[in-house]
Amino acid sequence: TMKVLLVLVALSVALDVWMEPIDLSTPVDIRVPFTSLQTVKAFLETEDIPYSVMIMDLQVMLDEEKEQRLSAARATEPRTTDDYNYTNYHNGDEIYSFQDMLVAENPKLVSKIVIGQSYEGRPLNVLKFSTGGTNRRGIWINTGIHSREWITQASGTWFAKKIVTDYGHDATLTAILDNMDIFLEIVTNPDGYNYSHKTNRMWRKTRKPNPGSSCVGTDPNRNWDAGFGTAGSSGNPCDQTYRGPKAHSESEVKSIVDFVKSHGNLKAFIDIHSYSQRLMYPYGYTATPCNDQRELHDLARKAITGLASLYGTSFRYGSVMTTIYRASGISIDWSYNQGIKYSYTFELRDTGRYGFILPANQIIPTAKEAWLALMAIMEHTKDNTN
Ligand SMILES: *[C@@H]1O[C@H](CO)[C@@H](O)[C@H](O)[C@H]1NC(C)=O
Ligand SMILES: *[C@@H]1O[C@H](CO)[C@@H](O)[C@H](O)[C@H]1NC(C)=O
Ligand SMILES: [Zn+2]
Repeated sequence: TMKVLLVLVALSVALDVWMEPIDLSTPVDIRVPFTSLQTVKAFLETEDIPYSVMIMDLQVMLDEEKEQRLSAARATEPRTTDDYNYTNYHNGDEIYSFQDMLVAENPKLVSKIVIGQSYEGRPLNVLKFSTGGTNRRGIWINTGIHSREWITQASGTWFAKKIVTDYGHDATLTAILDNMDIFLEIVTNPDGYNYSHKTNRMWRKTRKPNPGSSCVGTDPNRNWDAGFGTAGSSGNPCDQTYRGPKAHSESEVKSIVDFVKSHGNLKAFIDIHSYSQRLMYPYGYTATPCNDQRELHDLARKAITGLASLYGTSFRYGSVMTTIYRASGISIDWSYNQGIKYSYTFELRDTGRYGFILPANQIIPTAKEAWLALMAIMEHTKDNTN
């Protein structure tokens, strides 16, 4: 499969890799533009490489998704977070209003922190859930650093509502919030998210232009100062995994880096992606096991076991390098190297049937099951740090 990719790249076929292979025995998911379809099929057949079509016509799915989104949005603009439609995808403006409503409704529990601005000037909003204290131990969670992974921003929104609903009712969450603060950045790449709604649903990167190239954007999850620039990212601005000109060149990344450093007391750092159903810990840039491998591995197993208890959804787990592929400059390697032991990254549903275009009726189930895994990690963090 790696060979297929290399040859196709050599044939100058513009491919969008959705899921990279781990090794030569695992499949690769690729989006092939219609104009290259015959070339690619002929090549695979000549080489005797088995393939199957997962999505025949992506545009049909995109049109359906848009129609569904708009017809539900036309209903009525929500006035409270109870009226918000958690079974529908929402654009950046709608999620920003959701955040403001949630803060207004729960002033003692939730506040909004603006940690910086995106390249195009959008605020980088973080919801802080706190029951008091000064600079308590903290848990960081972000969704949507890759803009096209819409299930993640939708799940992040559901998590926010879940926290305010469960505080004071669910004993485990209450104990967590009585001891620690939770920071949640839902729209972590707002320019990319806006672009994925407005222009190109498949947009993954930031929207900052690259001098000397007509290709726009940097992969904000190859831009962190952890193995930056080594194998597992690209130096070509036209690639989906372009690492950027230097570590932390993207303000969407630098703002988190500055926030995490100035906070100084974060104990967990969780970066949520889709798709492929995995829960992973460091490292992505090296095969050397991290010092806490055993504990992180056991906790990952516990978290995905809890997750599976709800609907039977199965997640793989392990280090990034052994579970998915070599990836350098990723967020959780950076946070782990900063001393934040409980650094994890999720890949939510599904395993490729819909890929990034997960139907909206899967939002709540996806968020609910992921929440069980998050709770396992947060509770363990509370009990094992001070
Ligand atoms: C929420 O959105 C979905 C579309 O994804 C729609 O089917 C449903 O009717 C909407 N619910 C309400 C109460 O508007
Ligand atoms: C994109 O951003 C512009 C400017 O902030 C805003 O007016 C527009 O509503 C946004 N569009 C979407 C689909 O998010
Ligand atoms: Zn991603």
